[in-house]
Amino acid sequence: MDSLFRLDGKIALVTGGASGIGEAACRVFAAAGAQVLIVDIDRERAEALAGELDGARALIADITDEEQVRQTFAGLERLEVLFNNAGIGLVGNLEETPAEDFRRLLRVNVEGLYLVTKYALPLLKASRGSIVNMGSVAGLIGVKRRFAYCATKGAVVAMTRQLAVDYPTEIRVNCICPGTVDTPFVEAYLEKYHRHEKAKVRAELNARQPIGRLGRPEEIAHLALYLSSAEAGFVTGSVVTIDGGWTAA
Ligand SMILES: NC(=O)c1ccc[n+]([C@@H]2O[C@H](COP(=O)([O-])OP(=O)(O)OC[C@H]3O[C@@H](n4cnc5c(N)ncnc54)[C@H](O)[C@@H]3O)[C@@H](O)[C@H]2O)c1
Repeated sequence: MDSLFRLDGKIALVTGGASGIGEAACRVFAAAGAQVLIVDIDRERAEALAGELDGARALIADITDEEQVRQTFAGLERLEVLFNNAGIGLVGNLEETPAEDFRRLLRVNVEGLYLVTKYALPLLKASRGSIVNMGSVAGLIGVKRRFAYCATKGAVVAMTRQLAVDYPTEIRVNCICPGTVDTPFVEAYLEKYHRHEKAKVRAELNARQPIGRLGRPEEIAHLALYLSSAEAGFVTGSVVTIDGGWTAA
């Protein structure tokens, strides 16, 4: 069994790799034999993580800045695995969402993914590589007061299918749609919006998923590993939920 889901000899680039699900993916991909490239704006965390993982490198870049993305890929000769994971959240219904915040979410979650994929594509076509995009249940169903976030994750689902349709034999492209996962992203949300009632809201977040708890970053990372591995050779254009039963209810 040890030989399943291996990435030996492969180069895997993870955006938002310095924290949360991205960090877990960097650890899991490295343990599976990949050389990991950690793309993030957080230099300190990215470099600290790179220092822990054999052969890993931190590439500091803002995925919304085309020139920075271009430079990141200009230095690469080969790439087999891309995990478009970086993303940000926002709470609010349409009336509570200022245009500036809406645009910010679109820039990171949609345009950032577009830019990274655009510059990665020649390398991935050359290697017959794989892309995993980070969606969310918010891209599949409505989630109360997540207007902008749902819009951007819906776009991630659509971009996944579109890429799979446009490049069916050259690359594989899939999308992961997690429910709520216990990461700094959730902690920041609790701190910002529910500072004085964290325990209560955390319990509500647990209850929102029929399984009764949040997902763990490692659980999402292992799905990303499977989708990036040779064993998933027939899987493309798929949108995979991993949400403790949330969207089944
Ligand atoms: N945590 C959840 O409950 C959850 C659920 C579903 C989907 N997701 C998605 O998973 C992804 C990762 O979430 P997380 O919870 O691990 O978040 P996180 O906040 O712990 O990590 C996100 C990382 O992305 C980096 N990043 C943000 N903007 C960037 C930019 N412009 N350029 C480069 N790097 C940037 C951050 O510095 C950070 O290291 C996001 O796309 C998020 O929408 C999270």
